[in-house]
Amino acid sequence: MAMLGFLKSAGRVALARNPSPFLCSSLKQAAVPSLFRMMSALASQNDVLFRQLFDRETCTYTYLLADTQTKEAVLIDPVIDLAERDAKLVGELGLELKYVMNTHVHADHITGTGLLKKLVPGCQSVIAEVSGAVADVLIKHGETVKFGEHELEVRSTPGHTNGCVTYVSHNLKSVFTGDALLIRGCGRTDFQEGSAETLYESVHSQILSLPEDYVVYPAHDYKGNTSSSVGEEKQFNPRLTKPKDEFIEIMNNLGLPYPKKIDISLPPNKVCGLYNLPDELAAKLED
Ligand SMILES: [Fe+2]
Repeated sequence: MAMLGFLKSAGRVALARNPSPFLCSSLKQAAVPSLFRMMSALASQNDVLFRQLFDRETCTYTYLLADTQTKEAVLIDPVIDLAERDAKLVGELGLELKYVMNTHVHADHITGTGLLKKLVPGCQSVIAEVSGAVADVLIKHGETVKFGEHELEVRSTPGHTNGCVTYVSHNLKSVFTGDALLIRGCGRTDFQEGSAETLYESVHSQILSLPEDYVVYPAHDYKGNTSSSVGEEKQFNPRLTKPKDEFIEIMNNLGLPYPKKIDISLPPNKVCGLYNLPDELAAKLED
């Protein structure tokens, strides 16, 4: 069993860096035909395009993931002001945008989902069923979102909002945490049915329980960081390394101002940015 574990591990690293004849020959030497078939299947699963995109106004990250063989792609957490940028990139790269996904109903910006559905006909909106929002696809904990040969596991991570989900790519060893876990921080819990206790339990049970080398990609960063890792956050996150009661005390005393864009963001975000937009943005959908 230990040998099998080693081979699996070694194969994944080699595949990620170089899906090449070297891998095939090393596996042939292993003389384990079934393992070879399994590893060959995994080889195609490492053909992933990954882009981290940024909105300077709200410090929001949008993620583009695509299968470079089938060209199927997904966007996570697009911003309406930059939907045209995202659609242009998808077109330039020759991708077929399958899903536009949100980690939650955002309060700080209007999602780009509705405008992207117009700019890239055929793509579908995705959000958690628990969020209460309207979308083409309503997902639940434990389900997977597939694009080409790849998939994202859906993990329910409430606490910042009831409907927050985290998307996990085991293939890429990456986790898209939305506002549940930020780099050295976490989303606030003082509005949108937020609960510090629930957030603490979500992050520890669903995110920090992942292998320590999984890369953490949050929905925002306000200090110039781009990514972290599960191991780093377990060691250095100033809030989530605390015992639960201390965490709750911290979160209940942040004294944060009322979010600037919450009143214009929530109504359209509850319908994935299709309706209830401010006039100047509604015009974009009607053009
Ligand atoms: Fe949020």
